[in-house]
Amino acid sequence: MTRPKPTVALYPGSFDPITCGHEDIARRALSVADRLIIAVASTSTHVKSSVFDVPERVELIREVFAGEERIEVKSFEGLLVNFARQQGATLVVRGLRAVSDFEYELQMAQMNQELWPEIETIFLVPEARFSFISSSLVREVAKLGGDVASFVSPPVLERLSARLRRG
Ligand code: PNS
Repeated sequence: MTRPKPTVALYPGSFDPITCGHEDIARRALSVADRLIIAVASTSTHVKSSVFDVPERVELIREVFAGEERIEVKSFEGLLVNFARQQGATLVVRGLRAVSDFEYELQMAQMNQELWPEIETIFLVPEARFSFISSSLVREVAKLGGDVASFVSPPVLERLSARLRRG
């Protein structure tokens, strides 16, 4: 009897920086996929001012998920669907925090489906206590001196504080 092929899911995003909400989605994704690749995009549809460069974001996410054998962290350039195909991933995971996320997410999912019909996007919902957290708000609050300790993991907090101290 042949074993079924392991399901590989891709969780793409900017992750600048990874938040507790992202971590929750990644852990939830392990219940629907055998392996998860967290994919840090060099090109995001949203133009933002970044705090961490892509290699730093990858390093931070690796620290956050150290010891989690089913999660890999990679960066990619170019189209998400090309990277997914190259990695053998058939699922794209995205988090939905609120109705306001939906329009953008639906548009991306349908564009990706158009570009590569074999890809499926699934939306996972984070725990309610993470629903208001976004990387952009974490960056803004941290830059303005607010406490973001409950929104990001300790390694992220440490690196964020050091980066902002340096200015
Ligand atoms: O965390 P973000 O910034 O909302 O993630 C957006 C991301 C990175 C998933 C999206 O911009 C993307 O897939 N970028 C890669 C380039 C690409 O494939 N663009 C077409 C998407 S429909």
